[in-house]
Amino acid sequence: MWNAAEVRRDFPILERRVYEKPLIYLDSGATAQKPACVIETVDRLHREWNANIHRGVHYLSEEVTTMYEAARERIARYIGAAAKEEIVFTAGATASLNTVAYAWGERFVGAGDNIVVSEMEHHSNIIPWQLLAERKGAELRVLPFDDEGRLMTEKLDGLLDGRTRVVAVTQVSNTLGTRPDLEYVIARAHRAGAIVVVDGCQGVVHGGVDVARLDCDFYAFSGHKLYGPTGVGVLYGKRALLEEMPPFLSGGDMVDRVSFAKTTFAPVPLKFEAGTSNFIGAIGLGEAVRYLERFDSAEIEAHETALLVRATEELQRIPGLRIYGTAPGKCAIVSFNVEGVHPYDLGMILDKLGIAVRTGHHCAEPVMTHYGVTGMCRASFALYNTPEEVDALAAGVERAVRMLR
Ligand code: ALA
Repeated sequence: MWNAAEVRRDFPILERRVYEKPLIYLDSGATAQKPACVIETVDRLHREWNANIHRGVHYLSEEVTTMYEAARERIARYIGAAAKEEIVFTAGATASLNTVAYAWGERFVGAGDNIVVSEMEHHSNIIPWQLLAERKGAELRVLPFDDEGRLMTEKLDGLLDGRTRVVAVTQVSNTLGTRPDLEYVIARAHRAGAIVVVDGCQGVVHGGVDVARLDCDFYAFSGHKLYGPTGVGVLYGKRALLEEMPPFLSGGDMVDRVSFAKTTFAPVPLKFEAGTSNFIGAIGLGEAVRYLERFDSAEIEAHETALLVRATEELQRIPGLRIYGTAPGKCAIVSFNVEGVHPYDLGMILDKLGIAVRTGHHCAEPVMTHYGVTGMCRASFALYNTPEEVDALAAGVERAVRMLR
């Protein structure tokens, strides 16, 4: 049985009060709170280990380089990568996805090719592909979802052909909570000769991933949603693909030899880590993973699913409330609107009650367009949320609706 009360003690911010009310943080889909061990690791690194990595023979530089590479190794194991060389540290999921679109895409996508993206992607997994398609004269094709929020994978074969280079799909929709059938998408895309790029921002948090078993080609996520620091993320890539991919950003640390006549590059993953990387963030992310490894991930998932079920049941009782995304097997995210109530107004009243939810288009405007709305309220659950917080959300929504109507 998950002990949320005990877990909450690891997260100092959860003791905060806002407007003199206890903070009820239901916006972990946007960014998760950090356990004390991550906060302390980042703090200690600044106080005791700050030195640039991969650059000095001096004590601090060597020690912090070892910590950075250990974080890479831990994260590789955590997501099931075959080797730590398949883990590139980036500034976040957006940087990871842009790296693939610019570097792999630049070399391997050409005029007349096509790229398939799902309709439920958030902007980071749409726009890099759209810009790539524009640069190259390629076509962007969209795999739709139905009103329930289920990705219509039965339409995938109709979009794939011998010119499909990339299929970009999320593991979990940040708005609908849907978990598309990635095994199916990957198998079909590979059969057509395309690579599959998975946005793991929400998926790595809710249930995790085994990238080798999944057989995706690239997998991107951000540190800050996985209880780690902001400004660091991961790009997993199959080693052969990373090796054949040209560099994206260039500068220090990603080189082998530099001369004015020619530069050769460092082996992967350093080839993609130009400049001084966010080594403190990366080590902090390693610490977040170490924290998560203490728990049984199935227990976390069961806890979050129980919160989702409770929230769904309670919210559905409110007259005029519509939940967007009810696909079977969805995970701990619930987006909704109430008839006649603007989501911003609802979010603002919830805020005054101490309840933090996200309002707006959730960086997924095509999902809003699908349902003909400009915004939604979204509650997203994490390992530290409690059933009482879910009840407070439902009561808060009821109260806000009464006031707004
Ligand atoms: N993509 C993040 C979210 O879902 C920012 O809120």
